[in-house]
Amino acid sequence: MSTLVSHHLLLCATPTKASCCDPEVGAASWESLKRILRDFDLENVKRTEGVVLRSKVDCLRICRDGPILLIWPDGIWYGGVTPDRIEKIVLHHVIRGNPLKEWIVRQTPQKLSWLGE
Ligand code: FES
Repeated sequence: MSTLVSHHLLLCATPTKASCCDPEVGAASWESLKRILRDFDLENVKRTEGVVLRSKVDCLRICRDGPILLIWPDGIWYGGVTPDRIEKIVLHHVIRGNPLKEWIVRQTPQKLSWLGE
């Protein structure tokens, strides 16, 4: 049996070189992400829309204004992802499909019709 994946969230939370953020803020964001995914049952492999995966990564090569969160398959990179912001990002972007433009710091080139481009 295969499992459908809706999103993969990669968070630079506690990087070895601590270039993009205070590791304490990053660690708090990571804990917040884990809690939010559990609270909304997004890690349920039987979820109709697909499971949401999360990975804590060491560096996403932006190295400033972090913590940095990359959301696949949308190719959206968020900056300043504090615990408060990460909850809003999951709610609006992952669950409702409405990325929060004001916190996007990079976009992987792709069709961006939802941004009016
Ligand atoms: S240290 Fe976080 S993006 Fe490089």
